[in-house]
Amino acid sequence: PLYKYEGFWFHQGFWFHSEASFSVEVVMALQEEFVAQPTNVFLATYPKSGTTWLKALAFAIANRTMCKGSNPTHPLLTTNPHYCVPFIETEPFLTNPCYNNDLLATHLPYTLLPKSVISSNCRIVYVCRNPKDVFISFWHFVNKLLSDDMSPEMKLEDAFELFSKGVSPNGSCWDHVIGYRKASIERPDKVLFLSYEEMKKDPKSEVKKLATFLGYPFEEGDGEIEEIIKLCSFKKLREVSKANKDGHKAIPNDAFFRKGEVGDSVNYLTPEMIEVLDKITLEKFNGLDISF
Ligand code: A3P
Repeated sequence: PLYKYEGFWFHQGFWFHSEASFSVEVVMALQEEFVAQPTNVFLATYPKSGTTWLKALAFAIANRTMCKGSNPTHPLLTTNPHYCVPFIETEPFLTNPCYNNDLLATHLPYTLLPKSVISSNCRIVYVCRNPKDVFISFWHFVNKLLSDDMSPEMKLEDAFELFSKGVSPNGSCWDHVIGYRKASIERPDKVLFLSYEEMKKDPKSEVKKLATFLGYPFEEGDGEIEEIIKLCSFKKLREVSKANKDGHKAIPNDAFFRKGEVGDSVNYLTPEMIEVLDKITLEKFNGLDISF
Protein backbone atom coordinates (compact mmCIF):
# COMPACT_ATOMS: atom_id res chain seq x y z
CA PRO A 1 0.00 0.00 0.00
CA LEU A 2 1.11 3.51 -0.84
CA TYR A 3 0.43 6.77 1.01
CA LYS A 4 0.31 10.25 -0.42
CA TYR A 5 2.71 12.80 1.04
CA GLU A 6 2.99 16.32 -0.33
CA GLY A 7 1.49 15.23 -3.65
CA PHE A 8 3.67 12.12 -4.14
CA TRP A 9 3.11 8.48 -3.15
CA PHE A 10 5.42 6.46 -0.91
CA HIS A 11 5.15 3.19 0.96
CA GLN A 12 5.14 3.15 4.73
CA GLY A 13 7.57 1.17 6.88
CA PHE A 14 9.10 -2.01 5.48
CA TRP A 15 9.30 -2.82 1.77
CA PHE A 16 10.15 -6.38 0.83
CA HIS A 17 12.97 -7.37 3.19
CA SER A 18 14.69 -4.05 3.29
CA GLU A 19 14.68 -1.71 6.20
CA ALA A 20 12.41 1.28 5.94
CA SER A 21 14.31 2.38 2.81
CA PHE A 22 12.42 4.79 0.56
CA SER A 23 9.50 4.92 3.00
CA VAL A 24 7.55 8.07 3.76
CA GLU A 25 9.11 8.09 7.24
CA VAL A 26 12.59 8.22 5.71
CA VAL A 27 11.53 10.91 3.24
CA MET A 28 10.19 13.08 6.07
CA ALA A 29 13.27 12.57 8.23
CA LEU A 30 15.64 13.36 5.37
CA GLN A 31 13.91 16.62 4.60
CA GLU A 32 14.86 18.08 7.96
CA GLU A 33 17.86 16.03 9.03
CA PHE A 34 20.00 15.32 5.98
CA VAL A 35 22.94 17.71 5.71
CA ALA A 36 24.08 18.14 2.12
CA GLN A 37 27.56 19.49 1.40
CA PRO A 38 28.19 22.07 -1.32
CA THR A 39 30.55 19.50 -2.92
CA ASN A 40 27.83 16.86 -3.23
CA VAL A 41 26.40 15.97 -6.60
CA PHE A 42 22.98 14.33 -6.47
CA LEU A 43 22.10 11.81 -9.16
CA ALA A 44 18.32 12.03 -9.26
CA THR A 45 15.94 9.80 -11.18
CA TYR A 46 12.47 8.37 -11.16
CA PRO A 47 12.93 4.61 -10.62
CA LYS A 48 13.66 2.66 -13.82
CA SER A 49 14.82 5.67 -15.79
CA GLY A 50 18.50 4.71 -15.95
CA THR A 51 19.67 5.24 -12.37
CA THR A 52 22.15 2.36 -12.43
CA TRP A 53 23.66 3.56 -15.70
CA LEU A 54 23.94 7.16 -14.47
CA LYS A 55 25.56 6.00 -11.22
CA ALA A 56 28.13 3.97 -13.15
CA LEU A 57 28.94 6.80 -15.56
CA ALA A 58 29.24 9.50 -12.91
CA PHE A 59 31.35 7.23 -10.70
CA ALA A 60 33.65 6.30 -13.59
CA ILE A 61 34.03 9.95 -14.60
CA ALA A 62 34.74 11.14 -11.06
CA ASN A 63 37.26 8.34 -10.54
CA ARG A 64 38.80 8.78 -13.95
CA THR A 65 42.33 7.70 -13.13
CA MET A 66 41.06 4.26 -12.17
CA CYS A 67 39.80 3.75 -15.72
CA LYS A 68 43.16 4.20 -17.40
CA GLY A 69 44.09 1.26 -19.58
CA SER A 70 40.98 -0.76 -18.61
CA ASN A 71 42.39 -1.15 -15.12
CA PRO A 72 41.38 -4.68 -13.98
CA THR A 73 40.92 -3.49 -10.38
CA HIS A 74 38.33 -0.85 -11.25
CA PRO A 75 35.47 -1.14 -8.71
CA LEU A 76 32.88 -1.23 -11.48
CA LEU A 77 34.41 -4.48 -12.73
CA THR A 78 33.41 -6.21 -9.51
CA THR A 79 30.75 -4.07 -7.86
CA ASN A 80 27.18 -3.14 -8.71
CA PRO A 81 27.05 0.66 -9.31
CA HIS A 82 24.50 0.93 -6.50
CA TYR A 83 27.28 0.19 -4.04
CA CYS A 84 29.55 2.83 -5.55
CA VAL A 85 26.98 5.63 -5.32
CA PRO A 86 24.58 5.21 -2.39
CA PHE A 87 20.95 6.32 -2.26
CA ILE A 88 20.29 8.72 0.57
CA GLU A 89 16.93 7.01 1.17
CA THR A 90 18.56 3.66 1.93
CA GLU A 91 20.51 3.28 5.10
CA PRO A 92 21.93 -0.14 4.03
CA PHE A 93 23.59 1.38 0.97
CA LEU A 94 25.15 4.10 3.10
CA THR A 95 26.91 1.53 5.27
CA ASN A 96 28.49 -0.14 2.23
CA PRO A 97 31.82 0.78 0.67
CA CYS A 98 31.58 4.14 -0.97
CA TYR A 99 34.50 5.31 -3.06
CA ASN A 100 33.44 8.87 -3.67
CA ASN A 101 31.24 10.42 -1.03
CA ASP A 102 30.57 13.47 -3.11
CA LEU A 103 28.29 11.43 -5.35
CA LEU A 104 24.92 10.56 -3.87
CA ALA A 105 21.72 9.32 -5.46
CA THR A 106 18.03 9.85 -4.85
CA HIS A 107 14.61 8.98 -6.25
CA LEU A 108 13.01 11.88 -4.35
CA PRO A 109 10.90 14.38 -6.29
CA TYR A 110 12.55 17.80 -6.55
CA THR A 111 10.10 19.44 -4.15
CA LEU A 112 10.78 16.80 -1.50
CA LEU A 113 14.57 16.92 -1.59
CA PRO A 114 16.13 17.57 1.82
CA LYS A 115 16.09 21.32 2.40
CA SER A 116 19.88 21.36 2.65
CA VAL A 117 20.24 20.10 -0.93
CA ILE A 118 18.83 23.37 -2.22
CA SER A 119 20.35 25.64 0.44
CA SER A 120 23.85 24.13 0.02
CA ASN A 121 23.62 25.02 -3.68
CA CYS A 122 25.08 21.64 -4.66
CA ARG A 123 24.66 20.20 -8.14
CA ILE A 124 22.02 17.76 -9.35
CA VAL A 125 21.99 15.52 -12.43
CA TYR A 126 18.60 14.21 -13.51
CA VAL A 127 17.91 11.51 -16.09
CA CYS A 128 14.39 11.18 -17.47
CA ARG A 129 13.02 8.38 -19.64
CA ASN A 130 9.92 7.89 -21.77
CA PRO A 131 7.17 7.08 -19.23
CA LYS A 132 5.97 4.12 -21.36
CA ASP A 133 9.37 2.42 -21.05
CA VAL A 134 9.62 3.42 -17.39
CA PHE A 135 6.28 1.76 -16.74
CA ILE A 136 7.16 -1.52 -18.48
CA SER A 137 10.59 -1.62 -16.87
CA PHE A 138 9.02 -0.99 -13.46
CA TRP A 139 6.33 -3.62 -13.97
CA HIS A 140 8.98 -6.24 -14.81
CA PHE A 141 11.12 -5.14 -11.85
CA VAL A 142 8.27 -5.39 -9.34
CA ASN A 143 7.22 -8.76 -10.71
CA LYS A 144 10.76 -10.06 -10.41
CA LEU A 145 10.85 -9.04 -6.76
CA LEU A 146 7.38 -10.50 -6.17
CA SER A 147 8.26 -13.81 -7.81
CA ASP A 148 11.55 -14.04 -5.88
CA ASP A 149 9.39 -13.53 -2.80
CA MET A 150 6.94 -16.28 -3.90
CA SER A 151 4.19 -13.67 -4.10
CA PRO A 152 1.61 -13.47 -6.90
CA GLU A 153 2.68 -11.28 -9.79
CA MET A 154 1.04 -7.97 -10.62
CA LYS A 155 -1.19 -7.96 -13.71
CA LEU A 156 -0.23 -5.48 -16.42
CA GLU A 157 -3.74 -3.96 -16.44
CA ASP A 158 -3.71 -3.38 -12.67
CA ALA A 159 -0.23 -1.88 -12.73
CA PHE A 160 -1.27 0.35 -15.66
CA GLU A 161 -4.30 1.71 -13.78
CA LEU A 162 -2.11 2.78 -10.89
CA PHE A 163 0.83 4.10 -12.89
CA SER A 164 -1.30 6.19 -15.23
CA LYS A 165 -2.95 7.80 -12.18
CA GLY A 166 0.47 8.57 -10.71
CA VAL A 167 0.05 6.03 -7.90
CA SER A 168 3.57 4.63 -7.81
CA PRO A 169 6.45 4.75 -5.33
CA ASN A 170 7.88 8.30 -5.56
CA GLY A 171 4.62 9.50 -7.10
CA SER A 172 3.65 10.35 -10.64
CA CYS A 173 6.44 9.75 -13.14
CA TRP A 174 5.30 12.85 -15.06
CA ASP A 175 5.25 15.16 -12.02
CA HIS A 176 8.66 13.84 -10.98
CA VAL A 177 10.15 14.77 -14.37
CA ILE A 178 8.38 18.16 -14.41
CA GLY A 179 9.88 19.16 -11.03
CA TYR A 180 13.46 18.57 -12.20
CA ARG A 181 12.86 19.91 -15.71
CA LYS A 182 11.62 23.22 -14.31
CA ALA A 183 14.54 23.34 -11.88
CA SER A 184 16.97 22.75 -14.76
CA ILE A 185 15.42 25.67 -16.66
CA GLU A 186 15.55 27.94 -13.59
CA ARG A 187 19.00 26.84 -12.35
CA PRO A 188 20.88 25.46 -15.40
CA ASP A 189 24.28 25.79 -13.70
CA LYS A 190 23.08 23.60 -10.82
CA VAL A 191 20.69 21.13 -12.43
CA LEU A 192 21.67 19.10 -15.50
CA PHE A 193 18.75 17.44 -17.28
CA LEU A 194 19.55 14.39 -19.42
CA SER A 195 17.44 11.70 -21.05
CA TYR A 196 17.90 7.95 -21.32
CA GLU A 197 16.96 8.11 -25.00
CA GLU A 198 19.62 10.72 -25.83
CA MET A 199 22.20 8.78 -23.82
CA LYS A 200 21.42 5.68 -25.89
CA LYS A 201 21.42 7.61 -29.17
CA ASP A 202 24.58 9.63 -28.66
CA PRO A 203 26.43 8.38 -25.58
CA LYS A 204 29.62 10.25 -26.40
CA SER A 205 28.04 13.66 -26.45
CA GLU A 206 25.91 13.01 -23.35
CA VAL A 207 28.85 11.59 -21.37
CA LYS A 208 30.91 14.63 -22.35
CA LYS A 209 28.12 16.90 -21.12
CA LEU A 210 27.93 14.96 -17.86
CA ALA A 211 31.70 15.07 -17.34
CA THR A 212 31.87 18.82 -17.93
CA PHE A 213 29.00 19.40 -15.50
CA LEU A 214 30.67 17.19 -12.88
CA GLY A 215 33.86 19.23 -13.25
CA TYR A 216 35.95 16.56 -15.03
CA PRO A 217 35.92 17.61 -18.69
CA PHE A 218 37.46 15.26 -21.25
CA GLU A 219 40.48 15.98 -23.38
CA GLU A 220 39.69 15.19 -27.01
CA GLY A 221 41.02 12.08 -28.66
CA ASP A 222 42.63 10.11 -25.84
CA GLY A 223 40.00 7.37 -25.94
CA GLU A 224 38.92 7.91 -22.34
CA ILE A 225 35.28 8.60 -23.15
CA GLU A 226 35.03 5.42 -25.20
CA GLU A 227 36.59 3.46 -22.36
CA ILE A 228 34.11 4.82 -19.83
CA ILE A 229 31.15 4.18 -22.14
CA LYS A 230 32.31 0.58 -22.57
CA LEU A 231 32.91 0.07 -18.85
CA CYS A 232 29.38 1.36 -18.09
CA SER A 233 27.61 -0.37 -20.99
CA PHE A 234 24.54 -2.48 -20.29
CA LYS A 235 26.42 -5.59 -21.45
CA LYS A 236 29.43 -4.99 -19.19
CA LEU A 237 27.47 -3.98 -16.08
CA ARG A 238 25.12 -6.94 -16.48
CA GLU A 239 28.04 -9.32 -16.91
CA VAL A 240 29.59 -8.00 -13.66
CA SER A 241 26.32 -8.22 -11.77
CA LYS A 242 25.73 -11.80 -12.93
CA ALA A 243 29.20 -12.80 -11.76
CA ASN A 244 28.67 -11.14 -8.40
CA LYS A 245 25.61 -12.52 -6.65
CA ASP A 246 26.04 -10.81 -3.28
CA GLY A 247 23.55 -8.06 -3.89
CA HIS A 248 21.49 -6.12 -1.46
CA LYS A 249 19.33 -8.51 0.53
CA ALA A 250 16.08 -7.10 -0.87
CA ILE A 251 17.12 -6.66 -4.46
CA PRO A 252 19.36 -9.06 -6.38
CA ASN A 253 22.08 -7.35 -8.43
CA ASP A 254 20.81 -8.55 -11.77
CA ALA A 255 17.31 -7.11 -11.21
CA PHE A 256 18.68 -3.80 -12.44
CA PHE A 257 19.55 -5.15 -15.89
CA ARG A 258 16.76 -6.41 -18.13
CA LYS A 259 16.94 -5.26 -21.79
CA GLY A 260 18.39 -1.77 -21.68
CA GLU A 261 16.64 -0.65 -24.87
CA VAL A 262 14.52 2.25 -26.05
CA GLY A 263 10.91 1.48 -26.97
CA ASP A 264 10.54 -2.04 -25.54
CA SER A 265 7.17 -0.97 -24.10
CA VAL A 266 5.48 -1.46 -27.51
CA ASN A 267 5.96 -5.18 -27.02
CA TYR A 268 3.72 -5.15 -23.95
CA LEU A 269 1.30 -2.21 -24.07
CA THR A 270 -2.01 -2.38 -25.97
CA PRO A 271 -2.72 0.41 -28.51
CA GLU A 272 -5.23 1.84 -26.01
CA MET A 273 -2.65 1.91 -23.23
CA ILE A 274 -0.18 3.63 -25.54
CA GLU A 275 -2.79 6.22 -26.43
CA VAL A 276 -3.52 6.96 -22.77
CA LEU A 277 0.15 7.30 -21.78
CA ASP A 278 1.03 9.38 -24.85
CA LYS A 279 -1.87 11.74 -24.12
CA ILE A 280 -0.77 12.25 -20.51
CA THR A 281 2.82 12.82 -21.63
CA LEU A 282 1.81 15.35 -24.27
CA GLU A 283 -0.39 17.28 -21.85
CA LYS A 284 1.94 17.18 -18.87
CA PHE A 285 5.17 18.00 -20.72
CA ASN A 286 3.62 20.71 -22.87
CA GLY A 287 5.98 23.68 -23.19
CA LEU A 288 8.82 22.00 -21.29
CA ASP A 289 10.85 20.98 -24.33
CA ILE A 290 11.02 17.31 -23.39
CA SER A 291 10.87 14.83 -26.25
CA PHE A 292 11.77 11.19 -26.55
P1 A3P B 1 14.70 -2.09 -18.92
O1 A3P B 1 13.87 -2.75 -17.87
O2 A3P B 1 13.87 -1.37 -19.93
O3 A3P B 1 15.66 -3.01 -19.56
P2 A3P B 1 17.16 1.89 -13.03
O4 A3P B 1 18.63 1.74 -13.09
O5 A3P B 1 16.70 3.30 -12.89
O6 A3P B 1 16.54 0.95 -12.06
O7 A3P B 1 16.61 1.49 -14.48
C1 A3P B 1 16.68 0.19 -14.93
C2 A3P B 1 16.56 0.21 -16.44
O8 A3P B 1 17.79 0.68 -17.01
C3 A3P B 1 16.31 -1.18 -17.01
O9 A3P B 1 15.58 -0.96 -18.21
C4 A3P B 1 17.74 -1.64 -17.25
O10 A3P B 1 17.84 -2.71 -18.15
C5 A3P B 1 18.35 -0.36 -17.81
N1 A3P B 1 19.81 -0.29 -17.69
C6 A3P B 1 20.59 -0.68 -16.66
N2 A3P B 1 21.89 -0.46 -16.92
C7 A3P B 1 21.94 0.09 -18.15
C8 A3P B 1 23.03 0.54 -18.98
N3 A3P B 1 24.29 0.44 -18.61
N4 A3P B 1 22.70 1.05 -20.20
C9 A3P B 1 21.43 1.14 -20.61
N5 A3P B 1 20.37 0.73 -19.87
C10 A3P B 1 20.61 0.21 -18.66
